[in-house]
Amino acid sequence: MRHDSVQTAGQNALEYMPGFGNDFETEALAGALPQGMNSPQKCPYGLYAEQLSGTAFTAPSHQNERTWCYRIRPSVKHSTRYAKIDLPFWKSAPHVDPDVVSLGQYRWDPVPHTAEELTWLTGMRTMTTAGDVNTQVGMASHIYLVTASMVDEYFYSADSELLIVPQEGKLRLATELGVIDLAPQEIAIIPRGLVYRVELLEGPARGFVCENYGQKFELPGRGPIGANCMANRRDFKTPVAAFEDRDTPSKITIKWCGQFHETKIGHSPLDIVAWHGNYAPVKYDLSTYCPVGSILFDHPDPSIFTVLTAPSGVPGTANIDFVLFRERWMVAEDTFRPPWYHKNIMSELMGNIYGQYDAKPKGFVPGGMSLHNMMLPHGPDKNAFEGASTSDLKAEKLDNTMSFMFETRFPQHLTRFAAKEAPLQDDYIDCWDSLEKKFDGTPEGNWNK
Ligand SMILES: [Fe+2]
Repeated sequence: MRHDSVQTAGQNALEYMPGFGNDFETEALAGALPQGMNSPQKCPYGLYAEQLSGTAFTAPSHQNERTWCYRIRPSVKHSTRYAKIDLPFWKSAPHVDPDVVSLGQYRWDPVPHTAEELTWLTGMRTMTTAGDVNTQVGMASHIYLVTASMVDEYFYSADSELLIVPQEGKLRLATELGVIDLAPQEIAIIPRGLVYRVELLEGPARGFVCENYGQKFELPGRGPIGANCMANRRDFKTPVAAFEDRDTPSKITIKWCGQFHETKIGHSPLDIVAWHGNYAPVKYDLSTYCPVGSILFDHPDPSIFTVLTAPSGVPGTANIDFVLFRERWMVAEDTFRPPWYHKNIMSELMGNIYGQYDAKPKGFVPGGMSLHNMMLPHGPDKNAFEGASTSDLKAEKLDNTMSFMFETRFPQHLTRFAAKEAPLQDDYIDCWDSLEKKFDGTPEGNWNK
């Protein structure tokens, strides 16, 4: 049967399937998905069957991820020869610049937009790298500045899955497996190897990206918390199948072992008409995250706010945790309520999506970032410390606040861009300068200065 109609990826833009890591099935044309088997002798509509493997064939069954795709052309037709290109602001670990000092506590104002036209690829600015992309451990953190859509241009990363955290503007992620519209307060995960195009729906757009070189993000175990709260599976959304049957000169950029390559083809590669499987892009609305915390005194470690975790080989020690600090009630009695002073073997990169963060009343602004690297001390500034130590401890709502942390077991190295071009706050380290000695030998201490 000949099928003449042309569908665009935008057609099903607002249709999603609920669940995290589900075994989904979806078809953009009725009857396109083979039933009861993966690889019929002839697929419906003359489609090609192709498997996309997100884990090793032999990964344990509870971790095994793959998707069967039924597409107009197989992926071998979506590349020709590869030519190496340069995207000078997108760096991969190991990337240790000898002129840059990564040891220290750092904070940045939002990276400003410029008049330059920037796409998802040219507008990616790497801030830090950790681990090693070649051995599939660690991560990179990026800021994206997008002012233009990719047109007949596509991308995939063989190196990584991308966790996207918008802060400003709206994006459309037209992927091989369907379309995701993404706005601030939402996040999306694009799996390793998935081809997509990023369009600007409302701009300029700015946000944060965690590029995960290692094992995929998954939901953290809740332990004694039980079966509910934190991030719930049903609140994750995977797009339904959508395809493009468009013959037009097109370009695909591939990130592979930290290098970028281009290949040119004569059609859109977003040509999957139907698919089934559990390796797929997903989005999640952070306002559905149900925070759990202290209801009498003290407070738990910030890991209580983990949304997603990407495991390393060591149990309980993440390659990356994605942690959310959002609106919540503070009720603990006789307690210093903000994050305490500490040093951490993990490296903490934070970003502010909106509002004010409780440990830093000033200076950490929406769009801004901070880095507290491995074993470097940090904690509340003077105002936060004085306020939290002396205020009347009634039940109080922390409102209008949403910040996050990419926390990794590996030290994070600053790029030249982060150290020399991005708006680094030279005086951040001074925020602890005015903390005074309260100790005067008496049990009550000296709170008068
Ligand atoms: Fe910390």
